[in-house]
Amino acid sequence: MMPEKNPYIVFTKHTPYIVMDVDTIIDENHQKLKASSVVALCRCGKSSAQPYCDDIHAVDGLREEKSKDRAPDHLKDYIGDDITVHFNLGVCCHDGCCVEKLPQVFDINKKPWIQPNNGKIKDIINIVEGCPSGALSYSIGSRRYQDLDRPPSIHIQKDGPIEIKGFIKLKDDENTVPACKEHYTLCRCSSSKNKPFCDGAHLDGNFE
Ligand code: SF4
Ligand code: FES
Repeated sequence: MMPEKNPYIVFTKHTPYIVMDVDTIIDENHQKLKASSVVALCRCGKSSAQPYCDDIHAVDGLREEKSKDRAPDHLKDYIGDDITVHFNLGVCCHDGCCVEKLPQVFDINKKPWIQPNNGKIKDIINIVEGCPSGALSYSIGSRRYQDLDRPPSIHIQKDGPIEIKGFIKLKDDENTVPACKEHYTLCRCSSSKNKPFCDGAHLDGNFE
């Protein structure tokens, strides 16, 4: 099911995220925010009206750029007998969902850290489909599965990134395309090295 509207998020290095035509925005308390055709969401982490922009960037300035020493945007394959899991460290938001929910397959203390033969296919698919950043995908045979079929929605994570679902396009001054077009996570703390995407830097504890 593809959306009837054409929702998108427009921004530059110097602006907040301007969300256009997204009816469903859920805050960190799981409450649906009032729908509006245009919403400005904070990306500098300093707004006192979170998750909205309060124009503080106009005072403090905003220059949200990728760092040269960010994790590389690279897909690595973890091959099992019946399923191959793909992982892109460059876009992982490090929320830990995979390692918490299926530790027999996803365990950062093992090498390789993903071992598909240790779990059931349906459980692995569940985890991949729950990965908010799009860092995980999988292949069965020669077919790769990455996108889901969901209506457009935006979810504000508590003390964390903005989770995007449902093929919401990005329109910025650098033609940014998410690694997974259906879902991805946007930085709203301003500390990510992979802006506009979250890289888990908010976990350092300086963002609430
Ligand atoms: S973003 Fe995906 S790969 Fe990264 S920790 Fe979360 S579930 Fe795992
Ligand atoms: S919100 Fe995760 S790095 Fe900024």
